[in-house]
Amino acid sequence: MTLAIIGTGNMAKGLATVFSGNAIVFGSRHPSEAASVASGFGVSVSAASIPDAVAKADIVFLAVPYDAAAAVVKAAGGLAGKIVVDLTNPMKADFSGLAIGFSTSAAEEIARLAPQAKVVKGFNTLFASVLQNGGKVAGTPAAVLLAGDDAGAVAQVEALVKAAGLKAIVAGPLAASRNIEAVAALNIGLGYGQGKGTDIAPTWVGI
Ligand SMILES: NC(=O)c1ccc[n+]([C@@H]2O[C@H](COP(=O)([O-])OP(=O)(O)OC[C@H]3O[C@@H](n4cnc5c(N)ncnc54)[C@H](OP(=O)(O)O)[C@@H]3O)[C@@H](O)[C@H]2O)c1
Repeated sequence: MTLAIIGTGNMAKGLATVFSGNAIVFGSRHPSEAASVASGFGVSVSAASIPDAVAKADIVFLAVPYDAAAAVVKAAGGLAGKIVVDLTNPMKADFSGLAIGFSTSAAEEIARLAPQAKVVKGFNTLFASVLQNGGKVAGTPAAVLLAGDDAGAVAQVEALVKAAGLKAIVAGPLAASRNIEAVAALNIGLGYGQGKGTDIAPTWVGI
């Protein structure tokens, strides 16, 4: 299983941490700079251009700003047939809330940009620092809320999440991303607006 992580920022590093048992390639606009990021993660982690990373991957993670998604889909050549995990949060510039919602979501908009990709929402409710610390909060595996219209793609991402030692909660079709993105906005509000910090994560009990 080869994972492409598009981006080399906070979430990209967090994903590389929790998925350390897999072959990983960072896809970047700046492959040589990405190579130095990759070198910090061991021999199974490499770097490439965005299209080269996508070509090698079974699953592609979009660890880029929501506003960059269209450019990434274009750079990747459309992402046809790929499982694409969208972890973007379409926050307003001042982080006071979501810029879109109720009638659509970042995940659904990305699915429209890449209609031949199998888009799965996930990881957006977890702070990057939680992933960089190994995916546990207060000693408990963090929960990854998942949504998608392709059941097989969701099942593959769910299996990957569980193999990484995290809890997976499948929330339904891709439109459930509207709610998942709202949960992430609440998490950001608690972490920053209410001063609870970033060592927190939302979950459900009884599932
Ligand atoms: N930070 C968090 O705690 C957190 C939590 C949940 C979800 N998220 C979401 O995760 C995504 C990434 O957040 P982050 O905190 O990791 O951001 P970040 O640290 O700023 O990193 C974003 C990465 O995206 C790439 N990028 C930026 N503009 C791009 C463009 N126009 N085209 C292609 N690639 C571009 C850059 O990689 P290269 O320069 O290597 O190309 C950059 O390293 C965002 O959508 C955010 O809402 C973040």
